[in-house]
Amino acid sequence: MHKDCERIMLTEEQLRERVKEIALQVDKVYEGKRPLVVGILKGSIIFYADFIRHLTVPVELDFMVVSSYGSGTVSSGKLKIKKDLDRDVKGRDVIIVEDIIDSGFTLANLKALLLERGAASVMIVTLLNKKERREYDIAPDYNCFDIENEFVVGYGLDYNEMYRSLPYIGILKRNVYEK
Ligand code: IMP
Ligand code: MG
Repeated sequence: MHKDCERIMLTEEQLRERVKEIALQVDKVYEGKRPLVVGILKGSIIFYADFIRHLTVPVELDFMVVSSYGSGTVSSGKLKIKKDLDRDVKGRDVIIVEDIIDSGFTLANLKALLLERGAASVMIVTLLNKKERREYDIAPDYNCFDIENEFVVGYGLDYNEMYRSLPYIGILKRNVYEK
């Protein structure tokens, strides 16, 4: 385990099994369709890559870079689109794949935006859900794990761009971000 982690919250095996389970559920919903799978960079990359490989329906891949955070652990309250989609979402069934839903700010804004642009449907799939922290009226349609209010890293998630490549989800030691 990385020295900055307090403990491992979700092991590689737990992640592998649950991501597959969720992907197979989502796959069934889109039978006969060709959804546009939108990954929210960078946090979702590993989840996204594992998730789409369990889908049997034909998919198109696209990505957005948005940020509501500065470089710390507290939301700054304004969604910025740093990289927009390549594809037009008009009439498309969109699956948003996100690493974690915290206050809900990012996904509430993003879902509204894609619907406003004419998406036929928008489904939200998250790896992690910090329910306790919700401030916006939004919930994932599919979520892999409900977690407590702790700052986690790994499997794509970062703190100041670090720890994304850890293969597990670990709880970051408080002294790392409270220094
Ligand atoms: P929200 O807009 O408040 O729901 O925040 C969602 C975003 O906050 C996620 O996409 C992450 O980038 C970030 N975030 C929230 N909690 C954590 C965490 O525990 N570890 C790493 N990133 C987090
Ligand atoms: Mg993110």
